[in-house]
Amino acid sequence: ATHKYILTEINDKVGIIRLNRPKALNALCNDLFTELNESLKDLDSNDQIGAIVLTGSDRAFAAGADIKEMQDKNMVESYTRELLGHWTEQILKLKKPLIAAVNGYALGGGCELAMMCDIIYAGEKAVFGQPEINLGTIPGAGGTQRLVRAVGKSKAMEMILTGTVNLSAQEACSAGLVSGVYPVDKVLEKAIETAKIISSKGLPSVMMAKEAVNTSFELPLSSGLQFERRLFQTTFGTKDQKEGMSAFAEKRKPKFTNE
Ligand code: HXC
Repeated sequence: ATHKYILTEINDKVGIIRLNRPKALNALCNDLFTELNESLKDLDSNDQIGAIVLTGSDRAFAAGADIKEMQDKNMVESYTRELLGHWTEQILKLKKPLIAAVNGYALGGGCELAMMCDIIYAGEKAVFGQPEINLGTIPGAGGTQRLVRAVGKSKAMEMILTGTVNLSAQEACSAGLVSGVYPVDKVLEKAIETAKIISSKGLPSVMMAKEAVNTSFELPLSSGLQFERRLFQTTFGTKDQKEGMSAFAEKRKPKFTNE
């Protein structure tokens, strides 16, 4: 499909999606998100793909939800039509890993979109912030929930309540929000490299590992540990586990077949 607001590419076993609405700093309008959801769904169900990378431009990963599109909405239609509900329709269902390569602004919904990804890499000039309070509203796609878990309460409160305290790439890295900081022209490369490493593993175990980590946010520890152990035991039903362990014993590289 040809898209207006995103560019897609397949590199080896990695699907790459680039947000491409430069005039509005990748503000996440409805149509952009619809295209993003479609493309994520296609890549997630494509057997040739092992991981997905999401990026923006050097200037902006995304400067947030589209303010001009939202400004005249009223409360009743926002509530009854679940304003921006479709943001999480696809992303949270993805079974394959989604890696964000963030350059420039990741503000508001842009920061929230990055936080919906499984791994975030940041370019040196990346800026993470939740400025919604300046617009008379609050974060609506996970900012008050995921940011707290990523950087702790005091920093999250400071960012969300002031709308002016942002995190630099380095600060985001020290706080644990992102995995690493790279030169602007290297961050996408790094994300693709990681996606390729992940794609070389057995897909069922990659998916189970992702599911188990995400479940840690939902369950009390004892239930999470039990869920993890059940999935661990389930991997023994795969050929990949037999292959992985015999390759180790035979001192050779494993060749996973996703079975
Ligand atoms: C619509 C936006 C936009 C946005 C930028 N633009 N951000 N349009 N929605 N979120 C547009 C500008 O209007 C402008 O269009 C063009 O992009 C370039 O932006 P400038 O402001 O001229 O660039 P600059 O001076 O470099 O400032 C960059 C910026 C600033 C600091 C990022 O654009 C900014 O503050 N943007 C808004 C950030 C924000 O508040 N995000 C949170 C949104 S609310 P024109 O036509 O004038 O050239 C949100 C809620 C999420 O995300 C809820 C999820 C459920």
